[in-house]
Amino acid sequence: MNIVEIINKKRLGQELSHEELDFAFNGYLKGTVKDYQMSSLLMAICLKDMTNKEIFDLVDIFIKSGEVLDLSSIPGIKVDKHSTGGIGDKITLIIGPIVAACGVVVPKMSGRGLGYTGGTIDKLESIKGFNTSLTKEEFIASLKTVGLAVTGQTNNLCPLDKVIYSLRDVTGTTASIPLIATSIMSKKIAGGADKILIDIKCGNGALISNLEEAERLKNLMEAIGEFYGKTTICEISDMNIPLGSNIGNSLEVIEAMDVLKGKQGKLTDLAIKISVEMVKISKNISDQEAKKEVLEVLNNGVAYKKFLDFVKNQGGDITSLKVSNITEEIKAPTSGEVKNINALNIGKLSCSLGAGRINKEDKIDYEVGIVLNKLVGDKVNLGDTLFTLYKKDNQKLDLNISDYYEIN
Ligand code: URA
Repeated sequence: MNIVEIINKKRLGQELSHEELDFAFNGYLKGTVKDYQMSSLLMAICLKDMTNKEIFDLVDIFIKSGEVLDLSSIPGIKVDKHSTGGIGDKITLIIGPIVAACGVVVPKMSGRGLGYTGGTIDKLESIKGFNTSLTKEEFIASLKTVGLAVTGQTNNLCPLDKVIYSLRDVTGTTASIPLIATSIMSKKIAGGADKILIDIKCGNGALISNLEEAERLKNLMEAIGEFYGKTTICEISDMNIPLGSNIGNSLEVIEAMDVLKGKQGKLTDLAIKISVEMVKISKNISDQEAKKEVLEVLNNGVAYKKFLDFVKNQGGDITSLKVSNITEEIKAPTSGEVKNINALNIGKLSCSLGAGRINKEDKIDYEVGIVLNKLVGDKVNLGDTLFTLYKKDNQKLDLNISDYYEIN
């Protein structure tokens, strides 16, 4: 078998066999297939798509590239949640502690930022000392003591996703339904949870911008989950407007903590909705009963305490969280009402400030990002601060405000 022939076959839109996919992808993991060859194959997949057989084969190959966790020693139902990624999407940091505080075990295997969308692992690494590479033993021990653990793909768990994910991030090959489904479902199945909830973000600030594609992803992931005997529920939610007010790694952790301490708004509403679904499917209770439990742990501070326990347990020092002290306030050029905030452009801006990667080797600046001081529906007066940039230096940016905010 020859990698160039495999690339050519996909370029012509033909179906690859399990053997061919295995040769290419495991070859990449071993180093016999090079970065440029895998990039080319990934782009051919983006352009020519994959059949369901290819996707199921690729999920199998990804899962078998590492070990599958056996969480049966932990009592109760284990439920995992994943988002396809969006701008300002820090939901995992909120729902993990809420659901764990309700007594449901949350084993979470997360990714780094992808494209302009941030990743939970990068966000957690803005907390000094936070260990995102737990061993299997540490992962299980954390689940037993705290009920919540978040880890990235290690060499043992889905290593193929780890290497392909970081290559996709910098080769314009993120927005592919087969690649997203494979990446997410292989991680979820290797992570050992019994039930899986997936938040599919759809809009200009997400990997998927059209509803038809989001529906295809939903059906695919639910079918893959069912094949592996895991109840999988996919919800499709809007990502045309950034989620919450803060974009950037430390800033997002801070906002997640604010929600756990009682901040209200759309972000809180979505976190409650997803938490209710997770508690409901794990405990087999009604919507109302699940909501009562969720609101109770939010209101009595137990969910916030769970977040602090979770951070401490994974070695993080929450007092170390820092944002840049170099800020620039962007003012409203007119009075009116905020009609729209362009998630994609805000994501690009945050990335250009240093909160995301352009090249695989890039180091993220955890302290930079954007705070949206005005949200959709807010009234603004000429000269009010619309948003604040947290920057690494004093260089002034020449921004066209209408690329970010629509006011009238
Ligand atoms: N999240 C993942 O883990 N993988 C993707 O491909 C997209 C979002």
